[in-house]
Amino acid sequence: MAYDIADLFARRERERFAMHSRNLNEQMVRVLKAIGYDVGFCRGEGQYLYDRQGTRYLDLLSGFGVFAIGRNHPALREALKSILDSELPNLVQMDVSTLAGILAERLLAHVPYLDKALFLNSGSEAVEAAIKFARAATGRPGIVYCEHAFHGLSYGALSLNGDDIFRNGFEPLLPGCVRVPFNDLVGLERALHSHTIAAFIVEPIQGKGVNVPTNDYLKNAAELCRRHGTLFVADEVQTGIGRTGRFLAVEHWNVEPDMVLLAKTLSGGHVPVAAILGRKKIFDKVFDCMERAVAHGSTFGGNDLAMAAGIATLDVLASERLIEKAARTGEYLLRSLATMIPQYEFLHEVRGKGLMIGIEFGPPKSLKLKASWHALETSREGLFCQLITMPLFKEHKILSQVASHTSHTIKLLPALVISDADCLSIVSAFNSVIADSERVPGAIWSLGKALVGHAVRASA
Ligand SMILES: Cc1ncc(COP(=O)(O)O)c(C=O)c1O
Repeated sequence: MAYDIADLFARRERERFAMHSRNLNEQMVRVLKAIGYDVGFCRGEGQYLYDRQGTRYLDLLSGFGVFAIGRNHPALREALKSILDSELPNLVQMDVSTLAGILAERLLAHVPYLDKALFLNSGSEAVEAAIKFARAATGRPGIVYCEHAFHGLSYGALSLNGDDIFRNGFEPLLPGCVRVPFNDLVGLERALHSHTIAAFIVEPIQGKGVNVPTNDYLKNAAELCRRHGTLFVADEVQTGIGRTGRFLAVEHWNVEPDMVLLAKTLSGGHVPVAAILGRKKIFDKVFDCMERAVAHGSTFGGNDLAMAAGIATLDVLASERLIEKAARTGEYLLRSLATMIPQYEFLHEVRGKGLMIGIEFGPPKSLKLKASWHALETSREGLFCQLITMPLFKEHKILSQVASHTSHTIKLLPALVISDADCLSIVSAFNSVIADSERVPGAIWSLGKALVGHAVRASA
C-alpha cells in the first residue's frame, strides 16, 4: 500500500486547531490564537518555517532547542532513510546495539574524563536516571537543585523544578529534594553539610531566564560537592552539544562533572534521544552484578533511528563547524543587541553564551512609560514581553518566546546554522519593535490594552 503522510497532512492541516481543541489540549489552542501565532506552519527548512501562504519565518525557538543543525537537514534525512532501508535487527534486547556502541564512543570522546553512557528517550528520562544513579552510587537520598531550575516534568525531574507553576497540583513530589539559590555557594554548602545529599543537579546556564553563573560558581560548586561526597551533575539537555559555543557549556568554566545529561540537539530534531554520561564507578554501582544488568533502562533506549540521528548530528556539527559558528554568531548577536541598551528604557540586559541568549526588559525610568508598564504588569506579570514577541512575529516574521512564566526575558535559541543576514534582521527587528514600544500612545500599546483584556478574561 502506498503511504503518503505528507498528503494526509496537506488534506487535514487546516483542521489542526479544531482537532486539538476537540481532542487534545484546548488551552494551547487558546494561547496560540490569543498571541496570533495560529498561522498554520506547513514546512520547515534549516532555520526557517513557512506558513501555508509560503511566508518565511525565522525560528528562534528551534523546537525548544532540538533543531540545532536546522530542520530537515539532508544528512540527517539520509541517515534515517538508510536505517529504514537497511533491515537492521534493531532493539533485539537480548543483544547489544552496534550503533549505540558507536554513538557512545563518539560522545565520550568529547568528554574524556567520563567513561560510560546510557541512552534514553528524553531529557526528563536522563534526569530520572541521574537521580537513581546518584542514589545508588552514594547510598544517600538527597538531591540539591536550584531556584528557577527546569529539569523536565516527570516526577523526579519535577521535584527539581524551581518554578511553582509546574509543581502546583502535582504534589507530593519526591522527598529529600533541597532547593538552593542559583549562583550561591554559601547556600549550596549549607545544603551539602548534612552529608545526606547524593547529587547537586544543575544547568550550567539556566534555560528559564537564561541565567548565566558568575565565573567561579560552577568550578567552586563542583569542588564543594567533591569535598562533601556529593556527585556534581550537569544537566546539559539544553546547553549541551554546541548550543553555547562549546561542546558542553561547563567547558566555559573548566568543570568536569561526575555525570552529564544530554538530549535535544542529539536528536537532530527528528528522533527523541537522550544520554547520561558518567564515571565508571557510578555505573558500576548501578549495574553491579549480572542479575542487575537491566537495573535501569527503557525499551526504546538506544534504538537504531535515534542512534543514527545522534551520529548524523555529531557529523554535521563537525563538518559544518557549527559549534565554532555558534560561538562567533552568538558573540556578534550579544554585542549588537547590547549596544541598544543605552537607547531604550525598557531594555535592561542582554546575556548568554553562544546561541542561547536572554534579552531582559524591565521597568522604565520616565513617568510616561512607567504608567504604561505598571498598567500592563499589574494585570499579569510578564505581559510586557508579549508586546515584543507579538510584533516580532506579525511584522518581522520572527518566532520567539518568553523565557519563562512571569519572566521579563525573551530567549533566543535559534538553529546554530543561522546566517549573518539572519543576525542583521534579528537586530534590526528588535531595534524597531523596542523603539515602537517606547512610543506611548502607539500601536504596541493598543495591543497592550487588548492583552490586558485577555488577561482579565483568562483570570475571571
Ligand atoms: C535543562 C533541561 N533538562 C531537562 C529537560 C527535559 O527534557 P524533555 O522535555 O526532553 O523531557 C529540559 C527541557 O526543556 C531542559 O531544558
